[in-house]
Amino acid sequence: MSDKKRVYVSDLKDYVGKEVTLSGWVYNLRASSKKIKFLVLRDGSGMCQCIYFKGECEDSALENFGELTQETAVKVFGTVKEEPRSPGGYELSATSFEILSPSVDYPITPKEHGTDFLMNHRHLWLRSKKQHAILRVRSEIVNACREFFEVRDFVMCDTPIFTPSACEGTSTLFETQYFDDKAYLSQSGQLYSEATAMAHGKVYNFGPTFRAEKSKTRRHLIEFWMIEPEVAFNDLNDNMELAEDFVSHVVQRVIKNKAEELKVLERDTTKLANVKGKFPRLHYKEAVEIIKKENPGFIDGDDFGAPDETIVSSHFDKPVFVHNYPKAIKAFYMKEDPNNSDESLSCDLLATDGYGELIGGGQREDDYLTLLQKIKEHELDPKDFDWYLDLRKYGSVPHSGFGMGLERCVAWITGINHVRESIAFPRLYGRNRP
Ligand code: 4AD
Ligand code: MG
Repeated sequence: MSDKKRVYVSDLKDYVGKEVTLSGWVYNLRASSKKIKFLVLRDGSGMCQCIYFKGECEDSALENFGELTQETAVKVFGTVKEEPRSPGGYELSATSFEILSPSVDYPITPKEHGTDFLMNHRHLWLRSKKQHAILRVRSEIVNACREFFEVRDFVMCDTPIFTPSACEGTSTLFETQYFDDKAYLSQSGQLYSEATAMAHGKVYNFGPTFRAEKSKTRRHLIEFWMIEPEVAFNDLNDNMELAEDFVSHVVQRVIKNKAEELKVLERDTTKLANVKGKFPRLHYKEAVEIIKKENPGFIDGDDFGAPDETIVSSHFDKPVFVHNYPKAIKAFYMKEDPNNSDESLSCDLLATDGYGELIGGGQREDDYLTLLQKIKEHELDPKDFDWYLDLRKYGSVPHSGFGMGLERCVAWITGINHVRESIAFPRLYGRNRP
């Protein structure tokens, strides 16, 4: 059997009327009669219905059709046809197939499976339609993030994973051995990006971060990816402007380029279409007023819980900034508001639809003595931060930045209800397999 040109399902539009070979896996099978049989093939790039019709295909294809099972790896031969009713707009008038590798008793069947079962079979679950769509959206988001910063001349500077100290508090640190020493897995690349920002002006880092969060929520992963820009001379306001332009760019690019996937995920994109232009900004105290009306038990000065974030965001049809959180609930590196020493020049961006905090950031403390004092107040060892303090000794300038959790962004844009599906192999509290 001579192979015709091997093409991808996503390229079928260029091969109408041509004989081709598709290589992929059996997604679905239907035999309506002895004379006509349907095979839905997936090849990673898309799905294509392949039709075997007696008289138009080899007899052996109909006779051996029963050998095909869900996820059998196959080559399918046939002629590409335009078919507006079929999902991708094309189908294959198939002549024959060749089994490359069998698949016996594939565990994930069209029936409902429990979450635990699916998570245990994550390596296979990834092949399902919805999971396939989510990871494609994720890939688009990653590219949109990079594009946003690259066209603005930001320099991508990677930051280390092994670090000697905490960035986001000591309670979620992962400790590990570093030869004869201790090290911690990075919670954020921020401190290092502050150093590279002093070398390049505008920088970003994008990599995995780790937090030993001992809680099971739909927003927390143990290992997640964060994109973190840092800009010399930017103040809190510049920082919020950068963040709103960034989030708008990412959302608009995804709804333009991944419309098919968002349809599979049944995401209402009319809401996402609204995510552009200026986002509302609330002072922490204004946000507290809103929260107290629906949660009278909320204590002034406390950090927001997930339900509080949902209360605030439900009042807006765009993501909303909350800024000037009390300094007591924020990290050591946050700059104090010169007009109010109880407040920090911090900002969080809360997503729409109850997805909660998407971005955390703010203006950094740039005064040497104040920063040293803060490090001590937070019971951190100044020795661990000698290099970080140096940045305040040699030409210190105002600077700001933020971090967006990639998985939070994926969950929000795709509309899924748990971050565990926003990354191929999630690490969760109580789960690090497969
Ligand atoms: O608010 P966070 O802790 O801020 C920082 O790490 C700063 N150093 C970032 C910066 O200014 N460069 O985390 C930033 C974002 C959150 O808004 C959230 O989107 C995400 O990271 N995030 C998590 N995502 C998934 N699982 C977790 N456990 C997360 N913790 C934070
Ligand atoms: Mg935060």
